[in-house]
Amino acid sequence: MEPNSDTDNYSPGVINRESDSEVTPWYVSGSVDYAKLIEKFGTQKIKTDLLDRLKAIIGEIHPLFESGFFFSHRDFDWILDQYQKGERFYLYTGRGPSGMVHLGHLMPWFLTKHLQDKFDSPLLFQMTDDEKFLFGQDNTMEKISQFTQENILDVIAMGFKPEKTKIIVDTKDIKSLYPLAAEIAKRITFSTAKAVFGFTNSTNIGMILFPAIQAVPCFLPSLIEERPTPVLIPAAIDQDPYWRVTRDVAEKMGYYKPSQIHSKFLPSLEQSGKMSSSKPEAAVLTTDDSETIENKISLAYTGGQPTVSMQRRLGGNPDNCPVYSYLRYLFDSPKESNERALKCRSGNLLCGECKHDLSSQSVKFLSEFQKRRENAKDRVSEFLYKE
Ligand code: TYM
Repeated sequence: MEPNSDTDNYSPGVINRESDSEVTPWYVSGSVDYAKLIEKFGTQKIKTDLLDRLKAIIGEIHPLFESGFFFSHRDFDWILDQYQKGERFYLYTGRGPSGMVHLGHLMPWFLTKHLQDKFDSPLLFQMTDDEKFLFGQDNTMEKISQFTQENILDVIAMGFKPEKTKIIVDTKDIKSLYPLAAEIAKRITFSTAKAVFGFTNSTNIGMILFPAIQAVPCFLPSLIEERPTPVLIPAAIDQDPYWRVTRDVAEKMGYYKPSQIHSKFLPSLEQSGKMSSSKPEAAVLTTDDSETIENKISLAYTGGQPTVSMQRRLGGNPDNCPVYSYLRYLFDSPKESNERALKCRSGNLLCGECKHDLSSQSVKFLSEFQKRRENAKDRVSEFLYKE
């Protein structure tokens, strides 16, 4: 039976129990089965015909689509239909400033920048300082405000167009957000919120309201443009519960349902889980110096064998190797990545060599990024949302 709405067939907060993994907006663990997530969430796989269509419009396919890192969508085809009919769309993405930014966070931002360049779309970038204050027991407003300021520098360093990009900081811009948030909140019952987010009686009531705040930038473009305006959200799949409740209320409020493209997770440098701000030792931060990067990567888990001779004899397993994944999604071309996998499996490549490649590429990329991040300090006001 077809579900009536995006929330009807959802199992609370926790998905993929079968494969022992958990994906929520606040926590990801275990080895995620992305094909199963598509089924459970009721999203669509990004297939070749959709990418061919995109290529016909913008002339290329970004490597993050080509490598399958962005693997799922909702109504991306519809966004392309609208665009071809002459209707422009907004991009919307964001960050919950609970710590420093790591390479995983940059992944959806790379694609967002590419789409902004290609479609010349305005971008709303939401900093959910309220979410991170409310969610983390030990998070003080002061600490979160510091991370907000730091994280804004990373957003600017990505190279988004200043004239087309507005950063919304929830606690600062609440006056612009609250009227729409109230309209949204009025249409979502506690029973739906519990089912979708797994809220319980001990969840604080700030968290219960919060999904309405994250929904606002899906509709704000319609207020700015004074007509219903399509919105496309690039993000990892962990944010999907938010979009499901938003899509359920959109048409009742006279807006388009927001479209999404979903990415996989860049893994932690440890054996399992996603790269996460809550484990900085297992993540490459955009502010890490070269020594720290080299040290973290040298200690990373790999899919290799315990000894060199075993590796030569038995080969390694790139499918379960964060070092291979980082190289594949960040630095290698698809051809280089496939060759790397072949050499690894046949025992002709040692983990030390991959770690060396990843270290040198990361140091090179991040030293450039850090220069742009430093320059961003003088440009913050250019990017901040103004009513
Ligand atoms: P946050 O800060 O947890 O994550 C920011 C963005 O990074 C994605 N992400 C990852 N992508 C790949 N690999 C990883 N290891 C990884 N970890 C995180 C997230 O999916 C997200 O796209 N509530 C949100 C903030 C937010 C938002 C949005 C995000 C507000 N509005 C709209 C996306 C779109 C949050 O805490 O994101």
